[in-house]
Amino acid sequence: MATNKQWIYARKPNAQVGPGNFDLREAAMPQPKDGEVLVRTTLLSLDPASRAWMQGQTYRSQLNPGDVMAGWGLGEVVESKAPGFVPGDLVSADYGWQQYAALPGRALTKHDKAHKPEHILGVLGITGLTAYFGLLDVGRPRPGETVLVSGAAGAVGSIAGQIAKLMGCRVVGTTRADKCQWLVDELGFDAAVDYTAGNLVGAIKAACPRGVDVYFDNTGGEVLGAALNRMNVWGRVACCGAVANYDTATPSGGPAGVPGFLVTKRIRMEGFVVMDFYARRREAETALATWVEQGKIKAPVDVVEGFDKMPEALAGMFAGKNRGKLMVRV
Ligand SMILES: NC(=O)c1ccc[n+]([C@@H]2O[C@H](COP(=O)([O-])OP(=O)(O)OC[C@H]3O[C@@H](n4cnc5c(N)ncnc54)[C@H](OP(=O)(O)O)[C@@H]3O)[C@@H](O)[C@H]2O)c1
Repeated sequence: MATNKQWIYARKPNAQVGPGNFDLREAAMPQPKDGEVLVRTTLLSLDPASRAWMQGQTYRSQLNPGDVMAGWGLGEVVESKAPGFVPGDLVSADYGWQQYAALPGRALTKHDKAHKPEHILGVLGITGLTAYFGLLDVGRPRPGETVLVSGAAGAVGSIAGQIAKLMGCRVVGTTRADKCQWLVDELGFDAAVDYTAGNLVGAIKAACPRGVDVYFDNTGGEVLGAALNRMNVWGRVACCGAVANYDTATPSGGPAGVPGFLVTKRIRMEGFVVMDFYARRREAETALATWVEQGKIKAPVDVVEGFDKMPEALAGMFAGKNRGKLMVRV
């Protein structure tokens, strides 16, 4: 009888997450009840937030040891007992890290097979929507302004930076040394800063000679402090995430002197969660799909092959191994 491989979140990380925090288990194949759909997962998304879910309550409830590790994914309907779904449909949901899941039809989103699966999970999914609404609605860049993006070589950052270029801005990204040239050559950023090289304020100053008007913050921590230092008057900070603080036993309390900077420079610093914009998702999906089709933005994906590699892929993300949207092919 066929079984269902699952990655169980087994032990809370003391500091950095790694394969030791998970156990691989073979469970019975789930059986869909009335109103449910059995899905075979094909691609699973890796997200920095996965680490935060192990730590405590976020925008979703905390994970507890023994739970199937949570995670968004794409899959194919195998059997349907819910109206509106038939075998072969392409659907996404929070399946968790497992090969099969039985979920209520209302928990699933059906997708057009005309799009590449990697794009559905990346640029046309949460990643692209986060970049689109975070930059345009929260950051509100104007042509000619300078936009700084941290985590710029990652999933959200790579798209946010390219949208800012389309809006006529000068765009600078921060990442590790080995990805700086790639940002400029492949994704069309105007400059890139290695945030690990020291003197971050000086490096941002050199890369943004007219100061920073919009900072799209994926990292928090040291980059946030340096970015605030270089912000122009009436600047805007779109607080998307704080990946520098997720995978550590000693999260930073944030940069010193923040309120002072905010007051003297009249900076608007605003957090957002992509789901706040869910009602407008079609607008973003249409714009992003058009830009990708027309070659105006690239949608880099980093696909790790093999379900067995889930934990090491997650650890690799915090070591900065990914370029663009990280996912695992199951
Ligand atoms: N607000 C929302 O609704 C929403 C939705 C989705 C995602 N997010 C947030 O968006 C951010 C980016 O997510 P993503 O999915 O696009 O992930 P990602 O950027 O593709 O992957 C994470 C990247 O973070 C960087 N990083 C790791 N440790 C770091 C550290 N200590 N300091 C600075 N950078 C570090 C690494 O790149 P380097 O090599 O450059 O270090 C790594 O590749 C995260 O903060 C996430 O929580 C927010």
